[in-house]
Amino acid sequence: MFVVCATFLLLIAGGLVTSNDASLAVPDWPTSFGSFRMPRMVGGVLYEHGHRMIAASITVLVFALAVWTWISSRQRYLRILTALAVVGVIAQAVLGGLSVLSANWADPRWRLALASAHGVFGQIMFCLLASVALLTSASWRAEPASMLPAEDAGKLCLWTGLLVCMLLVQLALGAAFRHVWTKWGPAAAERIPANRIVNMFLVPHIVNAILATAVLVVATAMVMKRAGGNRNLRLSAISLHVLLLAQLLLGMGAFLTRVVFHMDVPQPQSALVFTTVAHQTVGALMLLTATVLAIQVRRALPHRATPAVKHAAGVQKAVTA
Ligand code: HEM
Repeated sequence: MFVVCATFLLLIAGGLVTSNDASLAVPDWPTSFGSFRMPRMVGGVLYEHGHRMIAASITVLVFALAVWTWISSRQRYLRILTALAVVGVIAQAVLGGLSVLSANWADPRWRLALASAHGVFGQIMFCLLASVALLTSASWRAEPASMLPAEDAGKLCLWTGLLVCMLLVQLALGAAFRHVWTKWGPAAAERIPANRIVNMFLVPHIVNAILATAVLVVATAMVMKRAGGNRNLRLSAISLHVLLLAQLLLGMGAFLTRVVFHMDVPQPQSALVFTTVAHQTVGALMLLTATVLAIQVRRALPHRATPAVKHAAGVQKAVTA
């Protein structure tokens, strides 16, 4: 759980780098201004180097988590997940480093692709580490308070899985918009006219937001209807609604500050930094909660449960009948 909270802070720090337009404040990698010593933490360097320092600490924590899991746990899925986390954290560092270095490459599209991939992959790592926390929690080991009906397994898995996929698409479109706008849009080189960037990335982002909202409502309604006394399922479903509401408002705020009022020209203003970082952060929390819900649903289905849980479900059904 500690690693998940630290990764959450790292996501916010990463958002601050992009929103403050500080991604090239330190122009080299893995060194900072040609050295491994700490530079003067002023201006954009505070955000960019600060992000690197938090990232380095989390890399150490993820390694420690994997070593500890491999020593103390025999669960194969936990070992695989933590090994994936180690590979992922290295890949994420390389993506971040290359997105800095690519500013000097001949084809400038690399920088957009690498920076967007770094933004998306960071949130996937966040969900991966949260899954490890969930699978090692006391609530995971305890039997679910009530089971979901086995005959609805197909549609429950489908809709909760679809929600995770829709949020991933939403994240990818948001990240692409954000990076193209800040690196090629009116806030920077003006290689692409603002309305083209909006049509290419922001309009699909808004259309997908409407579709994701519909999927979220259907998936959570399905779960709530069948959750019975399972508080974990109810909590995740309700949290998704609260987060969605906040996210739609923050999305409007990000749209107004970034596109309508151009608060990034010539220097990002605090209203823009707040709305965009908050929107990115709540987006990460939505992806995480949707992932947790999808896992919890699978846990609460009888065919995935232990014999003891199956027995409890059978008893419960017999009592209701
Ligand atoms: C389901 C609802 C939504 C989700 C989950 C969501 C998610 C996200 C995420 C994760 C990002 C940041 C990506 C990154 O940089 O890593 C983003 C960016 C953005 N989103 Fe959304 N979004 C939603 C709805 C909306 C709506 C309704 C609007 C506009 C009315 C909107 C406008 C924006 C804008 C303008 C950005 C770029 C912010 C910037 O330039 O820094 N979003 N979105």
